Amino acid sequence: MASSTSGRLAELKRKMETRDARVGIVGMGYVGLPLALLFSGERFRVTGFDIAEDKVATLNAGGSYIVRISPASIQEAQKAGFSVTSDYSQIAQMDAVIICVPTPLNEHHEPDLSYVVGTVQSIAPHMHDGQLIILESTTYPGTTEEVVVPILESGNPSGLRVARAAEESGLHVVFSPEREDPGNDTVARHDIPKVVGGCGLAAADLASALYGAIFRRVVRVGSPSVAEMTKLLENIYRCVNIALVNELKQLCMRMDIDIHEVIDAAKTKPFGFQPFYPGPGLGGHCIPIDPFYLSWKAREFDFRTRFIELAGEINTAMPYFVLDNITAALNQREKSLKSAKILVLGLAYKRDIDDLRESPSLTIIELLRAKGAIVAYNDPFFPTVGRGRHYDLNMQCTPLDNLAQYDAVVIVTDHSSYDFPAIVQQAQLVVDTRNATKGIDSPKIVRC
Ligand SMILES: NC(=O)c1ccc[n+]([C@@H]2O[C@H](COP(=O)([O-])OP(=O)(O)OC[C@H]3O[C@@H](n4cnc5c(N)ncnc54)[C@H](O)[C@@H]3O)[C@@H](O)[C@H]2O)c1
Repeated sequence: MASSTSGRLAELKRKMETRDARVGIVGMGYVGLPLALLFSGERFRVTGFDIAEDKVATLNAGGSYIVRISPASIQEAQKAGFSVTSDYSQIAQMDAVIICVPTPLNEHHEPDLSYVVGTVQSIAPHMHDGQLIILESTTYPGTTEEVVVPILESGNPSGLRVARAAEESGLHVVFSPEREDPGNDTVARHDIPKVVGGCGLAAADLASALYGAIFRRVVRVGSPSVAEMTKLLENIYRCVNIALVNELKQLCMRMDIDIHEVIDAAKTKPFGFQPFYPGPGLGGHCIPIDPFYLSWKAREFDFRTRFIELAGEINTAMPYFVLDNITAALNQREKSLKSAKILVLGLAYKRDIDDLRESPSLTIIELLRAKGAIVAYNDPFFPTVGRGRHYDLNMQCTPLDNLAQYDAVVIVTDHSSYDFPAIVQQAQLVVDTRNATKGIDSPKIVRC
């Protein structure tokens, strides 16, 4: 029994290494779709799974709904066998299944694992012996063992168990965090080392063989929990350091010191310092959300994650700080915020990406409107903005012309397509939350 299992494992590992393994990726979003293309680019036959029928149809028609992914790259992948489906019975044909579905917070600021649970419940009935299942969604330590494994074991009709020992048959389960930084082209995706934590040695072996085919380096850790915690440490590190510079920015403004000049000088130190930059508040699916997955889990251990909570407090207050600065700048010009015409530049949560999840722009627009301002926005990535989980704006993008009509132009996202000198020249007042106007000397600029 053990020798036939080890033969099967060796065969599966060989299929991973020779790219003959079939890879299923669940969740064709910002993480799953680029990952599918990466595997396709390395000659793996990839099947994408998504419950959103419009995404399935767009991808199967050779189209794309993510700006930085071209339809040509989807069509290229199709030539290598890439197709997308909402039919979970096809999971049975996969050698490896990688789960990349959302892990947001619910309205009580607690982990919402419903997408992960829903996905695992859907795939469990189609699992077969020897299959590799990898969770990539960011989550709290313990999720793979406490949530994923029990559903897989209770939900498959053949009574398969998760393999723990090196030569045991069953399901091979792994957590491997996605570490991508959208819009950051300085590091190629395959150069970002892939952290892998398996429920058993065989699982870690198989996942290392699979990821080793596309990533230059695979970092094995002792358990899924270590891999889950690794991802959270990375994001908490960013969250806390961004909060630190956001707080110091406010102090520097009172002291009439340019925080950006300070950071530029500090980062010349060749060791022991990594620069983080202040801004209008956190955005995106990761940094504003993931740390609270750990805070929530910590409560089970009667532990308070004070750094995370303090950082959250400072970062979530930043849009209010921006609002105060817009109000003060208008006041200086003997204008009130009520009825002021304000143009917000940039909806995306950061430069040059088409993602507005948790974007501080949305909060700033809502705060401005609540104070009676007449708000317009411009963002080359969003012709319109409607309703989301936490906002209801219903607005259309305004062309970037006739800027003198606005009482203030507020730079919230510093897209590289914006011509900031021209914007300053035309506007009456520019409130800059990103240091986008660095080097431009004008009394019209208020930096905050
Ligand atoms: N976006 C990033 O930059 C980034 C970076 C690192 C980690 N992550 C993590 O990766 C995970 C995915 O994030 P994302 O940004 O790709 O999310 P996303 O919302 O862009 O995509 C998720 C996709 O999953 C699909 N989906 C939801 N439930 C499903 C189900 N039951 N079956 C099949 N498909 C389903 C959705 O339709 C959507 O297409 C999250 O845990 C996130 O925290 C994201």
